Amino acid sequence: MAGPGCGHDVVIRERKPADDEAIRRLNDTAFGGPIEAKIVEDLRKARLATIELVAVEADEIVGHILFSALKVTIGAEMIPSLALAPMAVLPGRQRRGIGSELIHHGLALARQREWWAVIVLGHPDYYPRFGFSAAVTKPLAAPYSGDAFMALELVPGALSGADGRVVYPRAFDIDA
Ligand SMILES: CC(C)(COP(=O)(O)OP(=O)(O)OC[C@H]1O[C@@H](n2cnc3c(N)ncnc32)[C@H](O)[C@@H]1OP(=O)(O)O)[C@@H](O)C(=O)NCCC(=O)NCCS
Repeated sequence: MAGPGCGHDVVIRERKPADDEAIRRLNDTAFGGPIEAKIVEDLRKARLATIELVAVEADEIVGHILFSALKVTIGAEMIPSLALAPMAVLPGRQRRGIGSELIHHGLALARQREWWAVIVLGHPDYYPRFGFSAAVTKPLAAPYSGDAFMALELVPGALSGADGRVVYPRAFDIDA
């Protein structure tokens, strides 16, 4: 697909192992440190990395997004859920819709693969445009709360019900 305002076509595709070094560099650059790249590697090692996409422009990886399996329960029921994190676009390529394309493609795949919900801890001004809402996470017992802790139900009502819980894997424990 062609990204809006791009000189080159931006192609979104699934990550291949050969991309990993470029993905690491991209995360280090976009976040200004190694924490997010380590989270990505730890989630892969733990076999939790589920949907992983890259944005490629003129043979260069300029964007990356990872959705990983997350333990979400409502009462005794496991709700097939993903964490969206991290995502990054090269600083020089931001604000041209690449991040949005990564999210749209990722959510489409998540729907297709029958995940019920996606949870994100991120900028409260950014994710609501994709349908994420902090109101949905409010009743959940989780390590996070507030405007930045948002969810999107791919199956309506997936996260409603009594005694909802979200347990993040160790990969997200940045002290681990
Ligand atoms: C967040 C990020 C992935 C967005 O990628 P992008 O390709 O610039 O996104 P898009 O072009 O689709 O959307 C741009 C929008 O994102 C918003 N945005 C970008 N960074 C933002 C931030 N830190 N806080 C709030 N909004 C932000 C902009 O307001 C812009 O909206 P506008 O066009 O209405 O002004 C990119 O800015 C990035 O890599 N940031 C550094 C790493 C990061 O913070 N990742 C997210 C947390 S996991």
